Amino acid sequence: MDTEVLTRGHRAVPADNDPLWWRSAVIYQVYVRSFADGNGDGTGDLAGVRSRLGYLKDLGVDAIWFNPWYPSPLADGGYDVQDYRDIHPQFGTLAEAELLIQEALDLGIRTIIDVVPNHISDQHPWFQAALAAGPGSPERERFWFHPGTGENGDGMPTDWVSSFQGDTWTRTTDPDGTPGEWYLHLFTPEQPDLNWNHPDVRREHEDILRFWFDRGVAGVRIDSAALPVKDPALPPLGDTAHRPGEHPHLDRDELHDIYRAWRAVAEEYEGTRVLVGEVWLDDAERFARYLRPDEMHTAFNFDFMTQPWSTAALRGSIERTLAEHEPVGAPATWVLSNHDITRPVTRYGRADSAFAFARKRFGTPTDLERGTRRARAAALLTAALPGSLYIYQGDELGLPEAELPREVIQDPMHFRSGGVDPGRDGCRVPLPWAGARPPYGFSAADGADTWLPQPADWAPLAAEAQSADPYSMLSLYQEALRLRREVEDLRGEDLAWLELGADVLAFRRGERTVSVTNLGPVPVPLPAHRAVLLSSATQTDASARGILPPDSTVWLAL
Ligand code: GLC
Repeated sequence: MDTEVLTRGHRAVPADNDPLWWRSAVIYQVYVRSFADGNGDGTGDLAGVRSRLGYLKDLGVDAIWFNPWYPSPLADGGYDVQDYRDIHPQFGTLAEAELLIQEALDLGIRTIIDVVPNHISDQHPWFQAALAAGPGSPERERFWFHPGTGENGDGMPTDWVSSFQGDTWTRTTDPDGTPGEWYLHLFTPEQPDLNWNHPDVRREHEDILRFWFDRGVAGVRIDSAALPVKDPALPPLGDTAHRPGEHPHLDRDELHDIYRAWRAVAEEYEGTRVLVGEVWLDDAERFARYLRPDEMHTAFNFDFMTQPWSTAALRGSIERTLAEHEPVGAPATWVLSNHDITRPVTRYGRADSAFAFARKRFGTPTDLERGTRRARAAALLTAALPGSLYIYQGDELGLPEAELPREVIQDPMHFRSGGVDPGRDGCRVPLPWAGARPPYGFSAADGADTWLPQPADWAPLAAEAQSADPYSMLSLYQEALRLRREVEDLRGEDLAWLELGADVLAFRRGERTVSVTNLGPVPVPLPAHRAVLLSSATQTDASARGILPPDSTVWLAL
């Protein structure tokens, strides 16, 4: 058969047809609303993405992961899905998505979409039907409806804690206007949790996977993947630690059957369709269970992403990561940020450079110059590690977290914190592409109001301005990704540490390639080498003199 396999009328895999593509792939995350706006309404869309595929090709990515692009009231940026088999009308049409998937494949770029199994939108027909059908109905069994506690039923059925602060249950109103049952939502009330003990729920999601795999999608990112199964007894959370697998709604053992079934669906298809899990778990052994050979292919490495800029912390995390993946034979993933996380340039410039949702506050001071230096060093460090690499849109431009005025914030995390947490919109601001003032080429129409305002000082960060500068963040990313493809040592899966002092993170890949990061306050001498392949420091003359400045990474050929 020709390598350009056609599946049910669609090309399914790019010409390379590499079954192991995902083990070392560079995956670029597109937050559609904020990537590029093709129709000039101030919101990103598929036309915008299609017009910028050449940019992604030049950057050197292997795949794009799209945040949810489905019809949605956008109560949580699209993680409240109304219809899993269509495209949000603000973004385009299903036909256009099919075209986009094919155009990307023509450039050798695969598409990964976001699936959200834990919850749906309260506007989804299933939930609307459940509300209308009333207590005791089969329609309600697809969710977690439950009478309240206490004489009047006005107490919440459980004491479970939301990932978004605030309550996890909302009370419904019966058709006659009286207060009715409660329903469970681990996130916002607009995101009712599905009951994964119900066969309809399982069948529906397997069918959704096939729907997109049939259209040439190369994989799925699984949202909140450790949450979907609940203990049907709805036990109290209590205040004691749970034995692994016995938490009422986190990391329950039954989840593994679901992902085994999904893996079986993926295996029906040509060209390795991958499952990538969003699995937030502290326990490394429990995390690795999701990556057993018949479950997910990879999962995001949040341990690494949340570490501070510290040699011991980063090295510890890299060692833990490699050790926990080894027994299951899965490759690690390396992630510096995503649409939920404070941008690295801002985070690494702060006194506390670790990431924790609970510690986000307005007005936290940052030194952007230092943060940018460190983000450049971190980009090279992560690109040198064995496994797959995720790049969140705009990190390749070195965008800082935008401090948005309260009145424009849309993220429910902000509101549910009582306005204390600035929320996640600061990393979701529309990208600057070109020009001196907003919308910086983001919208086809000049003067368009972008859905979140762009800072007035972003002109030097625009892609066009950076592409002309060999020392820009964009040029650094391009060059790093080119070398990652071309240097054979960087394509392997091995890593050997080099001991170059307490402030230095250094390792060898293969026989002849070394990555050295200086996290300390003073320059350090470089080990003997044949050539400098790439340096994150803009004073390149330093590495020519055999010295690595503070907060920099260099790649050396031995
Ligand atoms: C995941 C997403 C986040 C979303 C949440 C609820 O954590 O990354 O953006 O709000 O799930 O779906």
